[in-house]
Amino acid sequence: MIPVVKTIDEVRKHVKAWRRDGLSIGLVPTMGFLHEGHKSLIDRAVRENDRVVVSDFVNPTQFGPNEDLEAYPRDLDRDAALCDEAGASLIFNPEPEEMYHAPLTTVSVDKITKVLCGKSRPVHFAGVCTVVSKLFNIVTPDRAYFGQKDAQQLCVVRKMVKDLDFDIEIVGCPIVREADGLAKSSRNTYLSPEERKAALCLSRALGKGRKMIDEGERSAAAVKAAIRAEIEREPLARIDYVEAVNMDSFEDAEEAAAPLLAAVAVYIGKTRLIDNFIIE
Ligand code: PAJ
Repeated sequence: MIPVVKTIDEVRKHVKAWRRDGLSIGLVPTMGFLHEGHKSLIDRAVRENDRVVVSDFVNPTQFGPNEDLEAYPRDLDRDAALCDEAGASLIFNPEPEEMYHAPLTTVSVDKITKVLCGKSRPVHFAGVCTVVSKLFNIVTPDRAYFGQKDAQQLCVVRKMVKDLDFDIEIVGCPIVREADGLAKSSRNTYLSPEERKAALCLSRALGKGRKMIDEGERSAAAVKAAIRAEIEREPLARIDYVEAVNMDSFEDAEEAAAPLLAAVAVYIGKTRLIDNFIIE
């Protein structure tokens, strides 16, 4: 069975031994409660690296005061079985006290973290960048794997890596969905059966928007309006945002053309879900 380690020292011991043997290392950062989306990242990392570390840590610093830190689902045994089966080499599952000793340092990326998810979650991306930087320093991977499900997070991490000269290749991986289109997410477990049906409005609305562009629509405003209208037809849905931005600048797109990120965040009952599509 795959080893599960709780301390930074233990991770470093494994990493040192692998480096002595000239092995390459991939890192898949997660908050656990792993599903097929996470597994697609782990599978790719296993294909591309000699050793793969999966971090499994519900990072408190990326949750706002009224968010779901306490409720966030956890199941380390099931996660370990999934990682073992996928061929990963090590799980890093620290307690918050192992990661944070009254820190005075944070890593934050400006501008592109102020919009979309950053607007309604003001501390979120500084929490993500700080913990991802720490994981990069602890594991020193050659490659790190992130899902396009969190497209803004992927862009923010890429920018941080560039700005701070981390010698790590960031690999972006496509969104894995349920058969009916709902993007897989650990938070889907919060949904009642009725909400689970309602949650389909995100992928349905984005699918409509994407089709409009494929069929020649050029106005980003028109695409956004159509996405919004489709979500508003669902009574259980409350929109946080519907945006279409230039993927490099994160400024509002006027033209629905590459490089475009169309992204939505929607409350279904109390559960906040996100989804997106990209035109590259
Ligand atoms: P978490 O939500 O557990 O996601 C871990 C990784 O899995 C992220 O890169 C995310 O984009 C990817 N992922 C989640 N659902 C996916 C899906 N349906 N298809 C493809 N990839 C998917 O994102 C985080 O954790 C945290 O912010 C973290 C980066 C670990 C920092 O704490």
